[in-house]
Amino acid sequence: KVLSNKMFIYKGMVLTFHELTDTNKEYIENLEHFEIRESDVFLVTFPKSGTIWTQNIITLMYEDDFPEEVNLNRIQRMPWLEIIPKNKDYNSRPSPRLFCSHLQEHLVPKGLRNKKGKIIYLFRNPKDIIVSYNYFCKYMLTFDAYKDMDETLDKFLSGFLFGGSWFDHIKGWYNNRDKFNILFLSYEEMIKDLRSVLVKISEFLVKSLSDAAIDKIMQKVTFNNMKSDPKANYKFLPDFIMKKEGTFFRKGTIGDWKNFFTVSQNERFDKVYQDKMKDFPLTFTWDI
Ligand code: A3P
Repeated sequence: KVLSNKMFIYKGMVLTFHELTDTNKEYIENLEHFEIRESDVFLVTFPKSGTIWTQNIITLMYEDDFPEEVNLNRIQRMPWLEIIPKNKDYNSRPSPRLFCSHLQEHLVPKGLRNKKGKIIYLFRNPKDIIVSYNYFCKYMLTFDAYKDMDETLDKFLSGFLFGGSWFDHIKGWYNNRDKFNILFLSYEEMIKDLRSVLVKISEFLVKSLSDAAIDKIMQKVTFNNMKSDPKANYKFLPDFIMKKEGTFFRKGTIGDWKNFFTVSQNERFDKVYQDKMKDFPLTFTWDI
């Protein structure tokens, strides 16, 4: 179902036409048969949950494995599974292959379901996602641009923004977690104690990193360092994809929604949230 000239619903999930050009359509349809290697690493997120930050962290952990890729942008080292590769087929990539994805659980390669490959699922409190999305959709030209918070909240609660329903996204992944080799992490724990999260990630990926190596990564992935790192900051995106003034690095904090949500918007959100998330075991950090 077409939502606009930019976005449409594909098997219950909202994607952008940027992702589903004619050539990419066949590619996405065949993704369920995409062959998974034991050594594959996937970062899965709902948009605006801290994807770029974590993409940067994971690629830096594998820097020594691919010395010839050191000067590539992070997106080239850890491309999007759902976007057709530009020059090199993913099957010809050396192991370990690193991928990002915003896909919901029911759309990913079947091979992942028998615990093959490693998945890191990063989640964030949804009120901050809405604020982040409200900013970002005005600059990301492949997204529908919403005029204000009310409209962004509408789209979020009805699941008609890029990524589809956040509720379905996190529930699909969490409720099916036993089928996957998966680590759940939150954006908020990264903000609060990045070092512990880096240790957790490196243990999950079976990467033994020295304290000094972890320190070095921590230094490179601070908000300000990433913002000015041309390999990490996505400023290389052409201006028909992202407006020049746009950035993936807006504020990088917990609880900024309090500066944007009105009392009634907050009540509206809480009502839907309480209904849809009752009995859901993961908890979210709404403020510091
Ligand atoms: P805000 O808009 O709340 O600032 P994604 O990469 O999934 O699109 O997520 C973008 C969000 O991650 C933005 O949130 C952005 O500021 C935040 N972010 C990006 N890099 C970060 C970093 N190094 N440290 C903390 N937050 C970061």
